[in-house]
Amino acid sequence: MQKSKLSPISNENDENLSFDEFDAVNYPRSEEVEFSKLAEKAMSRRGVLAAGVGFGVTAFIAGATTSLTPIKALAASRMGFDQVSANTLDTITVPKGYSWQAVLQWGQPLWSDAVDFDPTSRGTGASQEQAFGDNNDGMALFSDGGRHILAVNNEYTNLDIIYANRASKKPETPDDVRKGKAAHGVTVVELAEDGGRWTAVKNSPYNRRITADTPMEITGPARGHDLLKTAADPSGTASLGTWNNCANGRTPWGTYLTCEENFNGYFSSSDSDYKPTDEMSRYGIGPKDWGYAWASADERFDISKHPNETNRAGYVVEIDPLDPTSTPKKRTALGRFKHENAEVVLAANGQVVVYMGDDERGEFIYKFISDGRYVQGGDNSDLLDSGRLYVAKFADGGRGQWVELSPESTGMASQAEISIFTRIAASKVGATTMDRPEWITANPLRPEVYCALTNNKNRGLKPNAGGDPTPVGGPNPREANNYGQIVRWRPDGGDHLASGFAWDLFVLAGNPAVHSDAYAGSGNVNRDNMFNSPDGIAFDDNGLLWIQTDGNYSNEKDFAGQGNNQMLVGDPETGEIRRFLVGPKECEVTGITWSSDRKTLFVGIQHPGEDGNSHFPGGGDTVPRSSVIAITRDDGGLIG
Ligand code: FEO
Ligand code: CA
Ligand code: CA
Repeated sequence: MQKSKLSPISNENDENLSFDEFDAVNYPRSEEVEFSKLAEKAMSRRGVLAAGVGFGVTAFIAGATTSLTPIKALAASRMGFDQVSANTLDTITVPKGYSWQAVLQWGQPLWSDAVDFDPTSRGTGASQEQAFGDNNDGMALFSDGGRHILAVNNEYTNLDIIYANRASKKPETPDDVRKGKAAHGVTVVELAEDGGRWTAVKNSPYNRRITADTPMEITGPARGHDLLKTAADPSGTASLGTWNNCANGRTPWGTYLTCEENFNGYFSSSDSDYKPTDEMSRYGIGPKDWGYAWASADERFDISKHPNETNRAGYVVEIDPLDPTSTPKKRTALGRFKHENAEVVLAANGQVVVYMGDDERGEFIYKFISDGRYVQGGDNSDLLDSGRLYVAKFADGGRGQWVELSPESTGMASQAEISIFTRIAASKVGATTMDRPEWITANPLRPEVYCALTNNKNRGLKPNAGGDPTPVGGPNPREANNYGQIVRWRPDGGDHLASGFAWDLFVLAGNPAVHSDAYAGSGNVNRDNMFNSPDGIAFDDNGLLWIQTDGNYSNEKDFAGQGNNQMLVGDPETGEIRRFLVGPKECEVTGITWSSDRKTLFVGIQHPGEDGNSHFPGGGDTVPRSSVIAITRDDGGLIG
């Protein structure tokens, strides 16, 4: 998400802040890094650059982009499409020979006895509970006996869109809150294809809405811990709901992983004297919510009354997309933070490795390794419940290490506490604070993993949350980083279980039309393919890297010529990057999955018109609605 467009209760100036900016303004972090040292370092770096002797940064950038990825001749391109130009149109632009269609839209009913979307009321609690949620994000398409089942996250809501029927453009009644909670979570829906047209199947036995009120089971090391016990659940094993489901993962055994990101913004306090604990503050939990007002209708979101409820969110949740009666499981072994996605790979011996990013300025990248091994056709249902959790430490010079988070390494009391206060554990071992880790994806053709570091305007300028003593450098080489980069690493010996790795940068985004220094970007960025703020990234089975952006779409100043948010394709072998799609006005492009024959590509268009200037996808004067679109080739060929 770029901007929250939420309206916090007591501070008008908070409107238009991004989620992590809201936290930074309202719940400033303790200064774990000595600010004077940081400022000194930033100043000396600026001095070096200003003097035209930018050896440190430019040499690093040149080295980084050539050490693993020589930029080869474009004649060798593997991309079967012509680049589309950046633009600011209120529609989808795809390459010549490709077509798109809207498949799912916010508020679209999934059952025939549900009422259709009403653009005047924008729906009710009851209608929303039977309809596609809002702000779709990560997704995965599953197959079951030739049928296509899509699991898709509904991350959050834009208050001034879903409550545009209210004078305040905020939730005003208990039913408004019910509608908001039902617009969150996950949608599971069967899709059908007929002659190249994809439609949602109403009344399919697979269809399901999972919302902020759906019963969940808590599993793994923290299950039953005192910190998870509440008045409603004295056992600490069963919670209600999942929300702010950002990106996703899928397992080799056919389950869907949904990742709870900015879970904190839904809690608030009715007691203005209530002092959040240090642990709450590290997660941005405080007395003010982001305008959702859930505590006004559901007391469990009131931290002064039910503080432990906050410890029951911020996890990766595993869902069986083919069984609508199954209970989703919160897998605490994968840690608690603002989860972006969960990229699952198998080690050669069958152990399960999950790579995960914590999307906030100055947070970390994690890796989980299961104790057990995946067995095809076997019982893999508890593999994500026991294992070891690691956090990444990057060194300058292209090397890195995974550091295990254990009671011994962190000094914390138990693995359960590490699972609940994972950020604190990672700071204790001195992990590397990153420029907002978003999606992570593994190359299917070789042991190599990519992570989008979307941006970090405070890099090198303000203390970050995690306490890194070297804030500018390594994989985060630019202070005031407003463009972002993609880092990648290769595990030693090609083994995802290895503790060491080599890393480099696949791309530094930038604007070569405006800048000629490090902010111009790396050598594979030019005036024709430039972009900012990479976020969603995913490999196709052909080994091409798809890059979706959630960035600044002003198309001016530092971002002049970059247009709306977009999707590009990168080639890990050559470094080539080519723009494939441009989204409509004020959207974020996020969420990607393919049909099993790779002839259809599904892409998420989130919050078109978040500033009030889009009518996507209906056009005319229709209400803008977050959507899933399907992209096909007119000649029926493979996508990409
Ligand atoms: Fe939901 Fe970090 O994006
Ligand atoms: Ca983002
Ligand atoms: Ca994202």
